[in-house]
Amino acid sequence: MLDMEKIKKITVKASGEYDVLIGEGLLDFSGELIKNVASPNKIALICDDVVDYLYSSKVIRSLERANFSVVKFVFKNGEKSKNLNTYAQILSFLAQNKLTRSDLIVALGGGVVGDLAGFVASTYLRGIKYIQIPTTLLAQIDSSVGGKTAVDLDEGKNLVGAFYQPSLVLCDITALYTLPQKVFNDGMGEVAKYAVLDEKVYSLVSGDVCDLFKLVYLCVDYKRKIVEKDEFEGGLRKLLNLGHTLAHGIEKLSGYTVAHGKAVALGLIQIMKSALKRNFIDQQTFDGIMNVINKCVGEVVLEYSLEDICTNATTDKKINGDELTLIMPYGIGDCRPVKIKIDDLWGYLA
Ligand code: GLY
Repeated sequence: MLDMEKIKKITVKASGEYDVLIGEGLLDFSGELIKNVASPNKIALICDDVVDYLYSSKVIRSLERANFSVVKFVFKNGEKSKNLNTYAQILSFLAQNKLTRSDLIVALGGGVVGDLAGFVASTYLRGIKYIQIPTTLLAQIDSSVGGKTAVDLDEGKNLVGAFYQPSLVLCDITALYTLPQKVFNDGMGEVAKYAVLDEKVYSLVSGDVCDLFKLVYLCVDYKRKIVEKDEFEGGLRKLLNLGHTLAHGIEKLSGYTVAHGKAVALGLIQIMKSALKRNFIDQQTFDGIMNVINKCVGEVVLEYSLEDICTNATTDKKINGDELTLIMPYGIGDCRPVKIKIDDLWGYLA
């Protein structure tokens, strides 16, 4: 039996209202939890080959116990699969399996699975419901919440996508206990971002012991507040892009072999250095944040020149005309947007 008392619930009130449930053992009860919010005939479970091996039989068992009929689509893990080709294959799979508008997609896995399956859900039959079951730290604290869905183009990351909110997010903390260190650290890159944005996350991760349950709760709750005020990223939501413009340049330069969270940490370090140089932050704040980044992701080494990163960051979708909005820190919990001409990005940061 699932003890609902031990589950934390965060309700996101965006264009669609939905709950993010955080707890232990939710994967085993996904069927009954989904039944509370949707009653489809059929569920298309979408996951990558690694998650398929680890969790899909457990989730399918639970879904079938709750009387759902399940079809499964599995693709090769990694950012390289997040493209229009896999997207088209999933659409065909759904059509071949005759999924209708009253059916449901379940995205089981990390950020790649959630972004891809969410984008499929937003466009198949002009939109069907989907549920996120994130199994990585990065997906639990960030990508599964807020409705950003996308695939990459050769020209850049997340260039095709939609804002499309899920109907439910199930964060099973136990999935985090067995993550490979590299994948866990990748999520911690995004945690470092939240630590600069939010004092509560900063003090949690600066302490000696970091409770994962609390960490996921605080990050999701911070994101909830932002998404509720600015779902479609007109202004405030841009804060969540702290470190991301450079991160996307780094990911692109590496041919997507540098993981997203690590790239965010590297981007964040460059941004912190510029903020210090421009006296937006003092040395003590800089040292505190660098200490947190170090604690979160360990030592990370930047293998590209800032100039190359800036050049590769200029196909980023956060660009408007010849300008982009860079998020700069002025203190813990105080980050502000700065508009910069694309051609001046390197000069501004260097
Ligand atoms: N990952 C940034 C956002 O969801 O806005």
